[in-house]
Amino acid sequence: MAGLDRRTVLAMALGLSACGARAVDAPGEIAPLKSLSPFPLGVCVMTGQLDEPQWTQLAHTHFDRLTPEWEMKAEAFFMNGPREDFSRADRIVDWARQQGMGVFGHTPVWYSQVPDHFTALAASAPQRFRDEYRAYVGRVIGHWRGQLAGWDVVNEPVTDEGSTLRDCLWSQQLGHEGYVIEAFRAARSADPGAPLLINEYNLETNARKLATYQRLIEACLNAGAPIDAIGTQTHVDCELAPGAISATVRELARFGLPVHISEIDVSTRYGDARRQPAIYAEAAEAMAALPERQRFGLTVWGLRDSDSWLVRDRRRARADAPLLFNGAGQPKPAAAALGEALARI
Ligand code: XIL
Repeated sequence: MAGLDRRTVLAMALGLSACGARAVDAPGEIAPLKSLSPFPLGVCVMTGQLDEPQWTQLAHTHFDRLTPEWEMKAEAFFMNGPREDFSRADRIVDWARQQGMGVFGHTPVWYSQVPDHFTALAASAPQRFRDEYRAYVGRVIGHWRGQLAGWDVVNEPVTDEGSTLRDCLWSQQLGHEGYVIEAFRAARSADPGAPLLINEYNLETNARKLATYQRLIEACLNAGAPIDAIGTQTHVDCELAPGAISATVRELARFGLPVHISEIDVSTRYGDARRQPAIYAEAAEAMAALPERQRFGLTVWGLRDSDSWLVRDRRRARADAPLLFNGAGQPKPAAAALGEALARI
């Protein structure tokens, strides 16, 4: 089906359903999801998966954009010391280019991974911190200047409780809004053509957190920060209330900017696992409900259930099946339901 246009694939998918292959039963084959989708469909990737033929074939068939799950974070850059090592991420960008797939950058500025040498700098020479911070963001974004589909410049700036902004080294040195504004300015200078995003999670289930996130975005935009689009990670489970994803996407879209469902997975650890297909379908419907110019895309946080961060963490007692494809790479009802929802757009 490679190279078939969306109209042709739609006709084939409708033909399949007409002969009784109901999409939400245990589907055998499904049409390439990316060919059914009018907006970019992404999946996260780690370099080890590029050596797995099943992973590469499935990812290339169904998705047109990759988000490095780890390789474009500070921890990966500074594994070997205080100078950025981009080699791990370069491998992903090079592979994606060969496959004709896009890459979405994620994420140089995150409270969860502050480079040691920045912590040391804050103590030893705080007057240099701002310049070094700007230079770091500029080097990262500039390394792939003109090559990426965009960036999560700043990730998870709001506390879990939701009513305040996170404290982290970046906020302590530059202010809770300051570090966000500085990062976006440095990123714009380094790659003027790259869409720049901010990204957050639990917005579907924490109204305080959504409101704080919106206030931060508004304050940064008013200060001139070049925020081009808004990410909502959408790590949810099967207890999620129907309509919660649509309501969150609609709320974020009120800025008039594109919205990215940036990391969706639907844990089956909680709630009725039979709800999973409908939740993935709602994510597609929520994106489809936006004007075309506001549909940044939908990215799934893993390809097969066994690839999921929720599954790889063996300390979690109960099994989980959060993604579209099972551990054998076969499409689940969730994949079929997502495909049907995309085909209806
Ligand atoms: C997670 C990765 O999936 C894990 O492999 C890693 O150990 C920790 O980070 N929100 C984010 C992602 O923005 O970067 C996180 O990814 C999941 C939560």
